[in-house]
Amino acid sequence: MNDQHDAAPWWYTGVIYQIWPRSFYDASGDGIGDLEGVIAKLDYLAWLGVDALWLSPIHPSPLDDSGYDVSNYLGIHPQLGDLDTFDRLIDAAKQRGIRVLLDLVPNHTSERHPWFLESRKDRDNDRRDWYVWRDPAPDGGPPNNWLAYFGGPTWTFDEATGQYYLHTFYPEQPDLNWRNPAVRGAIYEVIRFWLERGVAGFRVDGLENIAKDPLFRDEAPDPYTQHHELARFRLQKIYSVAHPDIHHMLREMREVFDAYPDRLFIGEMSYSASLRRTLSYYGHRDYGEVEMPLNFGLINVTTDPGWTPDELQCYINSFDALTPAGGGWPNYALSNHDKPRIATRFGAASRAAAVLLMTLRGTPFVYYGDEIGMTDVDIPSERHRDRFSSVPGHDRDAVRTPMRWQQGPNVGFCPPDETPYLPVGEVNEGDDVAAQRDDPQSLLSLYRQPIHYRREQPALTIGHYYPILNPPDGTMAYLRGLGQDRVLVTINFSDAPKTLRFSDPTEGSFVLSSCCDREGRVELQGLELRPYEAVVIEVAPGRFDMPRLVTPD
Ligand code: GLC
Repeated sequence: MNDQHDAAPWWYTGVIYQIWPRSFYDASGDGIGDLEGVIAKLDYLAWLGVDALWLSPIHPSPLDDSGYDVSNYLGIHPQLGDLDTFDRLIDAAKQRGIRVLLDLVPNHTSERHPWFLESRKDRDNDRRDWYVWRDPAPDGGPPNNWLAYFGGPTWTFDEATGQYYLHTFYPEQPDLNWRNPAVRGAIYEVIRFWLERGVAGFRVDGLENIAKDPLFRDEAPDPYTQHHELARFRLQKIYSVAHPDIHHMLREMREVFDAYPDRLFIGEMSYSASLRRTLSYYGHRDYGEVEMPLNFGLINVTTDPGWTPDELQCYINSFDALTPAGGGWPNYALSNHDKPRIATRFGAASRAAAVLLMTLRGTPFVYYGDEIGMTDVDIPSERHRDRFSSVPGHDRDAVRTPMRWQQGPNVGFCPPDETPYLPVGEVNEGDDVAAQRDDPQSLLSLYRQPIHYRREQPALTIGHYYPILNPPDGTMAYLRGLGQDRVLVTINFSDAPKTLRFSDPTEGSFVLSSCCDREGRVELQGLELRPYEAVVIEVAPGRFDMPRLVTPD
């Protein structure tokens, strides 16, 4: 191994695996996944080679937003286990070299959180100012025109106290008032509580929402999005999202993390955050903010069915080039619990997409089940768990279905005679972990190979990223390099064969192909890629140190 690799923070070289805890594995046998189930599957995760788990919310919650509505930040939801199970999970994961990250939801609580129950009691309550309360507008309506993500105004009127409270999401998720230092202090205590317990960090939810315009000014219509099916997206969000005061709050929050060695602060950005805005949360060389602002660019670009590899590579080039040196580290995700799965979006190109994710300069996020090619599941509305899933085009339950462990009833997720809390969907032969684990050509094997290779080849983790300009249409190419090590990645996202002709270097050796059938020496003067094939090739440093394409085909 290489000194620079060893000296890098663990997340520079690691792979983060996101688990939706209710859907991973049900050890208690009640049809709902649980923490004991995560413990039971740690050997699988260690075999796969992931370095850290990110658990979506595990705290007590009435589940109005699948756990993103917390009613006690310091406990574990009884469906999932208890603090003792959690401690055993941390220990068992540690024994396997796996870290555990939690989801922190600081922007809002559940309406059933004791803080809110107090806050809504009366206007003089000590906790009144812990949430955002405003008088009605002169006509008695909401204080301004802000709209909530999940529909309707961002304000709900409270009859008892005659004021409106603000909720960026559902009315059951009142926003905390981050301008109140006592609120910030309380959330920092939550962070410390879990860091003391051994968690390796947090993915912090809805970060761009925490600071609002102190004058609560109306948002103007956004001329570019008037066609959007959700009214909220037809407004510019200048006053309700990404208020510049966030930066002060993030610096303060970062100090809480920095008091503990090796802890990671990941921030969820809005999907509409521009590249510039996302990058701004890294902070500045004199003051760090978020260690990794979640980069949704790959998801955003590839959600448009007409996307091209050229667009994707332009985005990656910008993100890579603009990530601040000296502390900033890129990250990439192709899916998560809110967005369609990789196999659904990429279809035949899913294997190529996996190679892309694993070979960029930046921490890859793998969403559970994508490594076996799980697709979005069509869920009848009467079985929906997520209310937002009933909004056409926003079926989030579809991507949160039980992990497919083996063939047979309930795919090994829960006992055969139990009804899983979300349907498993149609399962075909080969769709499960058991079938793919020993198949060297499976998607699972394809994920596993670069995860392990990354550990031996620092060029692929901390090495530089050099885009190779003007590859043939429908393809992408880049080089990763560190010291004398060079790894060339070429990806064909099209349904036609493509040939890339490099003049320098002229040969290399295959590390892998997404088709799992190439090894040995390869001529680079005529590198043929099959439809949707991605290949990773070790090359010697070239004469000009950058592989050169002769002419685009
Ligand atoms: C984040 C979560 C999403 C949740 C929302 C409200 O965007 O990813 O699942 O509904 O925050 O907490």
